[in-house]
Amino acid sequence: MENISIKLPSLKDAKKRTRKPINIYRDLYELSESLKKLGENKKYYLRTYGCQANERDSETIVGILDEMSFTKTDDYNEADLLIFNTCAIRENAVNKVFGEIGQLKRLKVKNPEVVFAVCGCMVQEEITIERIMNTYKQVDIVFGTHNIHRLPQLLENFINTKERTIEVFSIEGDVIENLPVKRFNKYKAWVNIMYGCDKFCTYCIVPYTRGKQRSRLMKDILDEVKELKEQGYKEITLLGQNVNSYGLDLGMEDGFATLLEEVAKINIERIRFATSHPRDFSLRMVDVIKDNKNIMPYLHLPVQSGNNEILRLMGRGYTVERFKMIYDKLKEAIPNIAFSTDMIVGFPNETREQFEDTLKLVDYCKFDFAFIFIYSPRAGTPAAKFIDNIDLKEKSERLQELNERVAKYGNLNNQKYLNKVVKVLVDGKSKRNDEVYSGYSEENKLVNFTGKNIKEGDIVEVLITEIKSWSMNGEKIN
Ligand code: 5AD
Ligand code: SF4
Repeated sequence: MENISIKLPSLKDAKKRTRKPINIYRDLYELSESLKKLGENKKYYLRTYGCQANERDSETIVGILDEMSFTKTDDYNEADLLIFNTCAIRENAVNKVFGEIGQLKRLKVKNPEVVFAVCGCMVQEEITIERIMNTYKQVDIVFGTHNIHRLPQLLENFINTKERTIEVFSIEGDVIENLPVKRFNKYKAWVNIMYGCDKFCTYCIVPYTRGKQRSRLMKDILDEVKELKEQGYKEITLLGQNVNSYGLDLGMEDGFATLLEEVAKINIERIRFATSHPRDFSLRMVDVIKDNKNIMPYLHLPVQSGNNEILRLMGRGYTVERFKMIYDKLKEAIPNIAFSTDMIVGFPNETREQFEDTLKLVDYCKFDFAFIFIYSPRAGTPAAKFIDNIDLKEKSERLQELNERVAKYGNLNNQKYLNKVVKVLVDGKSKRNDEVYSGYSEENKLVNFTGKNIKEGDIVEVLITEIKSWSMNGEKIN
């Protein structure tokens, strides 16, 4: 067996971007016969924090565990293997994970044989690793975002040696194809189109935790979508930190618009994508979304701030005027398009007036939904060197004010659906009421509805009878 030493991350190395070509590996992952049996009669419990990229990584982790004969449990008390796939985007995400790692210490006390692994973005930061090494001795295995395919070998190493096994690489990253996947949903699938990010927005840790932008080859993406269609999937979401720059690293120009057109031709019922970036969003996208009925009329376009000076300090590379221009063009071409966005309040030096510019932008765009965050300094990012000079009370008040403004438009936007028919992809029965089904409309509105002969995965027509701020109620017609 190979000797796995402790390999620790470094944010300094993670920052590097060279011209080194991106390697595509197709046979990096392999399981020996003994690894295929390692999980026999053992149960795993997996907890996923954070964004869709993490959700998709967890599907790979489960695919690997399945091939190793582990079975799943939703009760961590009966697990032989615990895995936490973590998020580092904001301080509160990190604190939540540490709190929960702390709580599960008692499981180890009860059963010292339990194996505890932590992976994902958080462990790409050296401060996290130091904390785990010094304080959280219950963690046995740590692996990063670049070496999920190594999980079998790391597990085997720990089980055989009982030595803490920490392997985290701070590298630009490769594209690793052909990893197993166990999809969590039978009708909706995530499809990675690229990994990493080169934008280095000044507040953001992602370019450090996920490495350089690496696009998957178009053919690999299209093959995956075709396979999903054959398997009966109704909806796919193309995933990347900045989908609009898809293909730049492959020498493509306007690669994402081209990719979308090709994906649309496969005729899967619903195509979504996330996350878009106003800087790289090409205007050809307006026509591509308009001309392809299976590209859903919904766009998540993070603006972050409605003030140009703050956008400049954030290193976002666009102005409020550009954002509005994209918004106007899309609304004009696709009148029923729904919009959501991300916004940060309390970025260093943000004045009350600058914050009010964000409120004004919300008045202009009348977003259907927004994720609003309090700025959280991330060690190693350029903004962490700015003085975080807005007190928490002020930040919280801005958060609340902005949330209220967004809710007002959320409700107003939903009003126009009253007595109208929307198409809903059925997710299943509502958790609260057995008679009620739920799913999302093409515009990504959550719809709860009643009716007969409804199956998960169907696309049904629902007459909207009641409006709420963040959802709508209705009845299936015919
Ligand atoms: N503080 C607060 N919010 C952040 N985001 C990213 N980094 C930070 C940070 N340091 C938000 C941005 C991004 C979303 C995914 O998370 O709004 O679009
Ligand atoms: Fe972070 Fe900016 Fe990249 Fe989005 S585009 S992941 S906010 S650095």
